Amino acid sequence: MSIKITIDGKEIETQAGEALINVAADNGIFIPRLCYMRGKPCLGTCRVCSVKVNGWMAASCATPVYDGMNVEVDDPEVKDMQKALVENLFSEGTHNCPSCEKSGRCDLQAIAYETDMMVSRFPYRFTERKRDNAAELIWLERDRCIFCQLCVHYIRDEKTGQKIFSISGRGPSSQIEIDKTLADKMTKEQAREASDICPVGCIIDKERGFDHAIGVRKYEISSIRERILKGEQ
Ligand code: SF4
Ligand code: SF4
Ligand code: FES
Repeated sequence: MSIKITIDGKEIETQAGEALINVAADNGIFIPRLCYMRGKPCLGTCRVCSVKVNGWMAASCATPVYDGMNVEVDDPEVKDMQKALVENLFSEGTHNCPSCEKSGRCDLQAIAYETDMMVSRFPYRFTERKRDNAAELIWLERDRCIFCQLCVHYIRDEKTGQKIFSISGRGPSSQIEIDKTLADKMTKEQAREASDICPVGCIIDKERGFDHAIGVRKYEISSIRERILKGEQ
């Protein structure tokens, strides 16, 4: 059903039920995201895509559009909320971009640039979680995990559909886990896919490491904003 919504005062014609985050991107309006991949169901774990819907904050990946919806994206409170959520992720984990294998192709880093984050307003926890090198093709740098759950839901054993990744513990003692038996059945392509789906440098495929020189890394060739607005991610 064709409907009309308003984003930042601009009237947009679209289809009822489409995810707000996609409608915005299709109309040239950038909304940051960390746990949403176009074409896959929304996980709703990061909330970085929050915007105002009829005056209330809502995660735009989890919000279907409806007729008459009034959306604010270019709004100081919205921008500050998005930035605060990104800052919180930096202070919750341990991130040292210059020495990180994912630098230049990391969604968290790229979104931090887009939200104008300079330093976190929250106290840094300097989290130390034991890294896991046991699997043949993959290692986990757990301090960088943002618990988006993309790997948990979308990387599975190709034969049985069993989950290869899981999250153990609760609150500050949570950490990402890998099933070594299943992980060692992964093809190199699947290990690469797991590394690519991780929006940070937590899942690293051992064969890659630093694979591109500074200046020609993923988000240096095409910014995350450009990629999202083209519907590429
Ligand atoms: S995971 Fe991303 S944000 Fe964290 S250190 Fe690596 S490049 Fe920086
Ligand atoms: S390992 Fe990566 S993909 Fe998996 S939950 Fe952590 S940040 Fe998300
Ligand atoms: S992108 Fe919407 S909640 Fe993560």
